[in-house]
Amino acid sequence: MSRQATQLSYASPNVEVEARIAVADRLVTLSERPFTGVVLASGGGEAVELAIAIARRCTGRSWVISFRGCYHGCGSLSGLLGAEFDEPVDALRQIARKRHRIMQCALARSSCDVKPTVKTIRERLSHLPEAPAAIIVEPIVGVNGFYVLPREFLQVLRKFASAMDAVLIFDEVLTGFWRTGKCFAFQGLDCIPDAVCFGKAVTSGYIPLSGVLLSDKWRIRLAKNPLTWGTTNFAHPIACAAALCVLAELSGPTIQRRLLGLAPVAWDLAYQLAKRMPDIITEVRGAGLLLALQLSQSLAGDDRGLRVATMLRIRSLLYEHGLLAEIDPAIGVIPIAPPFVIDEDHLRLAFRAIETSLKDIAVENSVRRENRTRKRYQSTSGVMPS
Ligand SMILES: Cc1ncc(COP(=O)(O)O)c(C=O)c1O
Repeated sequence: MSRQATQLSYASPNVEVEARIAVADRLVTLSERPFTGVVLASGGGEAVELAIAIARRCTGRSWVISFRGCYHGCGSLSGLLGAEFDEPVDALRQIARKRHRIMQCALARSSCDVKPTVKTIRERLSHLPEAPAAIIVEPIVGVNGFYVLPREFLQVLRKFASAMDAVLIFDEVLTGFWRTGKCFAFQGLDCIPDAVCFGKAVTSGYIPLSGVLLSDKWRIRLAKNPLTWGTTNFAHPIACAAALCVLAELSGPTIQRRLLGLAPVAWDLAYQLAKRMPDIITEVRGAGLLLALQLSQSLAGDDRGLRVATMLRIRSLLYEHGLLAEIDPAIGVIPIAPPFVIDEDHLRLAFRAIETSLKDIAVENSVRRENRTRKRYQSTSGVMPS
């Protein structure tokens, strides 16, 4: 990075720079065929919007099919793709969605959801005035619960996209770069999209870089109809230099050997923990080193306020035990995405910290519930329960 900073610290996004070409070549090699094109951006949400702009450009159409429950960023378009539109309070977002021409569908999270979900997608498609430009999905849902989508569902989307000549976009901003075992999650899912959005881990967080990988077909179509779209810092040369170092390190034997050994240990620890705490952890899911512990509803009962407070408390208990957890209080999940430099001892330590925090919260919540019952009793009968 410092060498790049002294050689060429900045160049506008559309200029050919050695580090840009090198990083694009590396990404194409890692993604394997049929990806032959890369367009670089900066943030993950920007890569998503770039992919959609490319799809619109190449197809000449504007509608986008997206799925409720996926997360694609918080830009004015990317933020709307996965948002919930069903609530009446979301009237403004409903209008924005129409303006942005997003047709949102439900997501099939398990194999039994596939048939009915596909039926609704077909119905929704029949209401569109024209075929869509793109279908966008997270092949493994990240922040909204860590669901590995059924392969049949992704394959149906593949068929729909091919039949309509639309771009099938996989958002792999979270799952990219060996987080789920393979370099990209799609490589383990028997479904090849037309475009893959990546970001985050491409530079291991040192400096933002993101982008879109394009299959040969769509790269050629884009070359015939180029798009001038981007911000000042897209494909920043110093970020490209960082990506080159990071990709060399991640794909090298040391990290690859470590990942092969660590993932089974992490899964084993997660299953053992779930077995010891069946009343608190109801499911372990995910892929590779992206795991989620689904917490039981009974931990906080039906009270939504208590559920949110519980998740926030779990976050601070984990922090007190030395763990930084990206917990969304609205989702009852503990996400586990350890850094790839972690060793087995630290992984075990982390699971012990999770166990202690969950035990603490179970005790705190039962005391809280007891106190509430006591108070309710006092206010209705004036008599304290023994
Ligand atoms: C799947 C996915 N897409 C897009 C984004 C947005 O990325 P950024 O925050 O870099 O804009 C995220 C961020 O968490 C993500 O998980």
